Parts: sequence; structure tokens; C-alpha cells
Amino acid sequence: MADAKKLFIKTYGCQMNVYDSERMAEAMGAEGYVPTDSVDDADMVLLNTCHIREKASEKLYSDLGRLKPLKAARPNLKITVAGCVAQAEGAEIQRRMPLVDIVVGPQAYHRLPAMVRAGGQSVDTDFPPEDKFDHLPQRKAYRGPTAFLTVQEGCDKFCAFCVVPYTRGAEVSRPPSRLLDETRNLIDRGVREVTLLGQNVNAWTADGWGLGRLIRELAALPGLDRIRYTTSHPNDMADDLISAHAEVPQLMPYLHLPVQSGSDRILKAMNRKHTAAHYIDLIGRIRAARPDILLTSDFIVGFPGESDADFQATMDLIETIGFGMAYSFKYSSRPGTPAAEKPNVPDDIATDRLARLQALLTAQQRAAQTAMVGQEITVLYEKPGRLPGQMVGKSQHLMAVHVEDTSGKVGDLVRATVTAAVTNSLSARRIPD
Ligand code: 5AD
Ligand code: SF4
Repeated sequence: MADAKKLFIKTYGCQMNVYDSERMAEAMGAEGYVPTDSVDDADMVLLNTCHIREKASEKLYSDLGRLKPLKAARPNLKITVAGCVAQAEGAEIQRRMPLVDIVVGPQAYHRLPAMVRAGGQSVDTDFPPEDKFDHLPQRKAYRGPTAFLTVQEGCDKFCAFCVVPYTRGAEVSRPPSRLLDETRNLIDRGVREVTLLGQNVNAWTADGWGLGRLIRELAALPGLDRIRYTTSHPNDMADDLISAHAEVPQLMPYLHLPVQSGSDRILKAMNRKHTAAHYIDLIGRIRAARPDILLTSDFIVGFPGESDADFQATMDLIETIGFGMAYSFKYSSRPGTPAAEKPNVPDDIATDRLARLQALLTAQQRAAQTAMVGQEITVLYEKPGRLPGQMVGKSQHLMAVHVEDTSGKVGDLVRATVTAAVTNSLSARRIPD
């Protein structure tokens, strides 16, 4: 392997990109590329990009700027831009940054090895008729007890602020047989927890099945101990999926269900197609099915037209629900989306609202963590801790946990008692088997 080429990947954005980066690394592995953590000794640099907000997409150009001296010193260094900025901007990226060799979109990356072999500059942002997953190598290289599994891609919801329906295209669900095969393959490699991924994962449907049925079939696979899914839309929470939370022990009591705003006026302007009352009622039904479920959400503040009263309605909804964790963002105008036409809320007002919203959400997150102290949890170990006699993993609620354990190893699923809640993680003591 002395002449193995080295591939450096930087992943921006969501978990789907993390999954895509793994699959691209595997595809390039079949071409003789091995991963490296350092750009300096890389033969190829792959930037897997995110277009969701302006800041995310501008990061690409600052990183490309930093690569200029490296490319000047080593003209054979291949630079590839993948992901959603690649999809949205295509050949424009090479016009702005001629050092980029390859631009490849999220639906075309199975063609990346052929593009590399062909050499020269190329762009592929097709939504090809063939399924990329049929053309990617099996996941032989996978290591670790947790894995992502893309089950669905694209979105037909067209929220007024969002680029995803344009960058990732229409909703497409992968067939159950492939998903069961890929999961069996992951289990054979030591995976005990899968997170089903989709831009609109609970819209997954195939062969007359919905996501609830898929989860039940996956739970029947021996060796799979934990199942999660993300990201969901409130309007696609089918009864069968809600009852799976009550009936399937492997389905973890955790749900990321973005609401974005608590104001009906703003929800309507966002084209979310539901009201705050609908969301609150839905959460009531989910909590009835699984009382210990931890709920998380995304919020946007400063959406065009958001008044003080609209913002207060969002704060009220947060108080009513009580979230275990949440991501919140200032609205970022994205070219080509319907909301981009509308006048923005002044930045100082949006900044102030974001700070107030985050203070409330942080307080709720702390309360959720503190409430765990003294409770028995389960932890799947992902790595050894920095201190000896300590393992690090996630609880069923996806909280990071440091467990005192002198005999544990990566991949163990253990019971533990929470001893303390520290910022952003729990401390716990293992309960002997
Ligand atoms: N501005 C700010 N936040 C956005 N999101 C999506 N588009 C935008 C935008 N234009 C947020 C939403 C979504 C999350 C992934 O990113 O909250 O749920
Ligand atoms: Fe974007 Fe999610 Fe709305 Fe789809 S449902 S348009 S991915 S925010």
C-alpha cells in the first residue's frame, strides 16, 4: 500500500452529509484512496458542502481560498466540491475558484471515481435515473457501534425559507429490501444502533409501508439494539409511527420534530401547513405513547414579517412544550426561495430575539439534564474517556455520558446511574450486570 493515495474530507452541515462523506470515502477506497486527517499530505481534498444558510455556503469559499497555496505548490492535488453548494452553484464554483477540479452533486457522487479517472475539470449535478446506492460499494469499511443509514432523500414540502427541495430534489424513498440488507451488513460489522436519515424521514414510504413499519422490521433483526430517525415533519407523523414509539423497545425515546415558529401567521407565511395548536396536540399524542420521550426542535427567528407578538408566540410554545434540546437560527435569505423576495427583519432585532430564545432553550436543556440525576439509563459506548477507567457514549435520550467503568469497551451497551449533570454531558456510574 506504499503508493496508496490519500483523501482528505471535510464535511459541513447535516448528518446526511456525514453519511454521504462516508459513502464517497468508500467509493474512493475502491480506487485505492485511503483517508487522511491532514490536508498537507492529501492527494485529493473533498469538501462536502452545505447550502442551508448563507454562512454555511460562504465557508466553502473561505476554505477554497486557504487551499490556493497548497494547489500552487502541488498542481496534482485534486480538489473536489460535493454536496448542496455543488448542486446549487455547479460550474459557477469553478468560475469563481478555478482551482476546483471536480464539482459533484449529492445525487451524482457514485460517478465521482469515474470523474477522477477521467482527469481534468468536470461538473456533474444531474439527478440521474439510476439509483446511486446501486452503484456504490458495500459498506465493508464501516467501524464503530453506531451508524447512519439514509432511507429517504429530498423534500416536497417547500417551506418558504428552505433550499433543500431545490438542492436535494423531490422525495425519494429507498426500497425496504435494500435497507434491511444494508442494516444486516452494518450489524455484521459491529453496529448496534442505526439512525435512519432523510430530509423528511417520516415521509418515507415504499411497498405500501410507512416509516413505522420499517422500524418494526428493522427491530426484528437480531443484534440491532437501538433505532433513531431524523429529521421529521409534523404533518408526516402517522399513527403507526407514533404507536411504534409505544411498542418497539429498540426505538429510542427521542424525537427531533422541528416546529420553526409558534406563530400561526408566521407558520402560514413559512408554508409549514400546520398551526401551533396542531403541533401541541401532536406532541400530546406522542407523549401519551412514550411518556419519557425527549423532544427537540429547530427554530428560525426573524423570518420576514415576524412581529414582537409572533416572536412571543414562539416563546410561549417553547414554554408549553418543554424541549430537551433545540437548534435555533437567525433567518438567512436564500436565493431562489419564495421568502427571499420579502423584506428582512432588522438584524439587531433578530439578534436580540435569537439571544432570548436561546437563553430559554438552554435553560430547558439544563433542566432536562438535571432531571436525569439519580435515574437509571442505558449507554452505548462509542470511545474511551480521556481519564482512565472512563467510557464515553450516548444515553437513550442521545445525551453524551461519561461513565465510570474500568472494564467496559467500545460497543458495550450498559446500564448506569446518573451521578451528575455537567455542561453538555452527564456523569454516570455503571451498574454491574
Ligand atoms: N434560514 C435560517 N435557518 C434555516 N433553516 C433552513 N433554512 C433556513 C434559512 N433560510 C433551518 C431550519 C431547518 C434547519 C435544518 O435549518 O430550522 O429545520
Ligand atoms: Fe426544508 Fe425541512 Fe421544510 Fe423540507 S420540510 S422544505 S427540508 S425545512
